[in-house]
Amino acid sequence: MSSYKRTILITGGAGFIGSHVVRLFVKKYPEYRILNLDKLTYAGNLENLKDIEDLPNYEFIKGDIVDNEFIQNLFKTRAIDAVIHLAAESHVDRSISNPMEFVMTNVIGTVNLLNAAKMSWAQSSAADSLSERKLFYHISTDEVYGTLGASGLFTEETSYDPHSPYSASKASSDHMVRSYHDTYGIPVVISNCSNNYGSFQFPEKLIPLAIHNIRNNRPVPVYGKGENIRDWLFVEDHASAIDTIFHKAKTGSTYNIGGHNEWKNIDLIHELCKIMDRKLHRSEGTSAKLITFVKDRAGHDLRYAIDSSKIQRELGWKPSLQFEEGLEKTVDWYLAHEDWLQHLTSGEYLHYYEQQYSHR
Ligand code: NAD
Ligand code: TYD
Repeated sequence: MSSYKRTILITGGAGFIGSHVVRLFVKKYPEYRILNLDKLTYAGNLENLKDIEDLPNYEFIKGDIVDNEFIQNLFKTRAIDAVIHLAAESHVDRSISNPMEFVMTNVIGTVNLLNAAKMSWAQSSAADSLSERKLFYHISTDEVYGTLGASGLFTEETSYDPHSPYSASKASSDHMVRSYHDTYGIPVVISNCSNNYGSFQFPEKLIPLAIHNIRNNRPVPVYGKGENIRDWLFVEDHASAIDTIFHKAKTGSTYNIGGHNEWKNIDLIHELCKIMDRKLHRSEGTSAKLITFVKDRAGHDLRYAIDSSKIQRELGWKPSLQFEEGLEKTVDWYLAHEDWLQHLTSGEYLHYYEQQYSHR
């Protein structure tokens, strides 16, 4: 009999957002057993969790959510009370060149987890209290809603209209999660969040890529004219929203999470260039010379912007950080962690698992 109050399976915990969620839960809730299940794809890096890997309530499990037998077995052998599902293929450009990988992990992998939860939780009666309930919490994106014109915001009632293979695969997984709630009574919650930024993000996404390239005097690619708009949220604020929703949201509910922080890509890049000039003691305007307009992304959504009034009103969550402060913190982090970036870009980080975990 475990001495822990709950065993929570967090999938994709070695990735960008997942590592922040794992860290927050492991540190804040020593009474929870946190299992981090991750395949360690190119985007999963256990170096992201070095600071908590020896804590007693944390365990890493290497595995693939597409492997149904493995997932079934995991649920049979571990008494999992709740799942926070972040494992996914997450980069739009990769989804354009390899959509099948996205269907496999994001759709099939999610259904494998749902089936295992359904089997494992079949005997348990619905708990009254939020703190004891079984829960499948699915982490999703605002990209499922498609694109906005110059005005309007995505609300929880906005119809799904995904355009990229990435967003279509996430929309499919959201639909499957809701269908398991409506058909089989699986207790689920879904949240759809806007673009995240912060530490430990793989440098293929706009902000870490730009920081990395400016640092190394390489061109900063801006798609099309740079007029697309994204609504940026500091990753630790997303993790705190996930904590809030996990503990307070009604079963079957959906919440949008966002920063009320819209930026045109080109303006954001100019802002980053200014910060980088200052940090690297370059004369003003030096980094901006690296901006290079390149061919636009196919099917590039023009604008994402979230109405997060529901989570603010019902659950009392709001972002804690102003964007200028968050961006400054983020730049400082990447500049101070050149070794982390070096390990990633050289592939050296892949050896970390072998050294730290394979013999445990
Ligand atoms: P990420 O690419 O940094 O991390 C994904 C993690 O999932 C990696 O550790 C990877 O190894 C793991 N993974 C991939 N395939 C797997 C598989 N088959 N089995 C087990 N593990 C696997 O992604 P992220 O940016 O941290 O996003 C996490 C989640 O949040 C995703 O579901 C994404 O759709 C969602 N999301 C991301 C953003 C964003 O701005 N990054 C915004 C909203 C929602
Ligand atoms: P990205 O970080 O890939 O997130 P998403 O596509 O999920 O929103 O891209 C953010 C925005 O930046 C998006 O409009 C595409 C654009 N972009 C560039 O202009 N250049 C780049 O090199 C990248 C990676 C993205």
